Amino acid sequence: MLKVLRKPVICGLALALLLPAGMNSVSAANEPVSALEVKPMDERYKNSFTIGAAVEPYQLEGKDAEVLKRHYNSIVAENVMKPINIHPEEGKFNFTEADKIVKFAKENNMDLRGHNLVWHSQVPDWFFLDEEGKPMVNETDPKQREKNKKLLLKRLETHIKTIVKRYKNDVDSWDVVNEVVDDSGELRQSPWYQITGTDYIKVAFETARKYAGKDAKLYINDYNTEIEPKRTAIYNLVKDLLAQGVPIDGIGHQSHIQVGWPSIQEIEKTINMFAGLGLDNQITELDVSLYGWPPTPAYPSYDLIPQSEFERQAAYYDQLFALYEKLGDKISNVTFWGIADNHTWLNDRAEQYNNGVGKDAPFVFDANYNVKPAYWAIMD
Ligand code: G3I
Repeated sequence: MLKVLRKPVICGLALALLLPAGMNSVSAANEPVSALEVKPMDERYKNSFTIGAAVEPYQLEGKDAEVLKRHYNSIVAENVMKPINIHPEEGKFNFTEADKIVKFAKENNMDLRGHNLVWHSQVPDWFFLDEEGKPMVNETDPKQREKNKKLLLKRLETHIKTIVKRYKNDVDSWDVVNEVVDDSGELRQSPWYQITGTDYIKVAFETARKYAGKDAKLYINDYNTEIEPKRTAIYNLVKDLLAQGVPIDGIGHQSHIQVGWPSIQEIEKTINMFAGLGLDNQITELDVSLYGWPPTPAYPSYDLIPQSEFERQAAYYDQLFALYEKLGDKISNVTFWGIADNHTWLNDRAEQYNNGVGKDAPFVFDANYNVKPAYWAIMD
């Protein structure tokens, strides 16, 4: 879906004209500037790629929805399309929450990414139990292992067929498989792999291709795609699958990155490498953490993060989007893994592993939906 111009640009334009070059509105007026008053990000990049955000259904109303409509022309479900949410029990699909996101995308003329059809995480156990309820991964009898493999691939086919058919006219790009390579560059030892080898990847793409809309694109999605040895491992895997005729259209670079890491040079090399295989690139889950992991040094609360940190972040965002724009013919979508700093999985992580210390600020809009220096940097 290509979106038509639908947002007023006058306020942002006037504001930008009022400000001296290089100075953002916070420093100029010392007053916060709302994301709802400035130029839309998606218009800024309309000649290069769509701009997306990951959303939970509760964000489809109120201020989140307003910001979404103003700045983004693509959305993706942060959680509700994942196997555990959409297919919790065999044959019992729960589409209610996913449908809300699909409806919102349609009503607002936005592209839709589908995340994800296959993952080792957030997948219900029933997929991997044999007909007697025993874990397939523990099976030692070769005949029974073969039977289990067939059963699992059949379940996978049904899962993908049901979801992809339902959203055939809605989803523009599918994350067909997510995170199939581990950090050491080996194929991830997930139950999928232990039971079927790489056949689950082939079946997943073939089934998605069979039932998806003809213009829908199919992606292999992963994090740390810019980092060796993982980058080369994914490259070799995809090259091999393409040679076998597996219908992969592109690579999704999750891009859970941090200020200064990876280097812009490595990101450029990565995009060019995969484009060299004839693949599209999408930036699928962008967040630029102030800290990395574990969060160090971590400020005690969001409000205590100094302005200098936001400026440091803006400088990296500036380079990042300049690169994305330069490679615009090789990148079709850039999706942030959230809308504004008030909702990011990085905070759940800090909560879970770091006693809540290290509340992060990864986006270009702050926790009150005001623009940050990073916004001005990428709009420049
Ligand atoms: O919905 C339940 C709720 O009912 C329950 O009370 C609550 C208690 O913990 O959990 C809720 O589920 C949480 C879910 O997010 C929805 O909020 C899960 O615990 C939590 O683990 C889950 O985290 C998500 C994570 O994937 C799961 O691994 C994050 O929101 C989501 O941002 C994150 O996204 C992933 C991408 O899909 C793949 N790439 C990495 C990225 C970041 O981890």
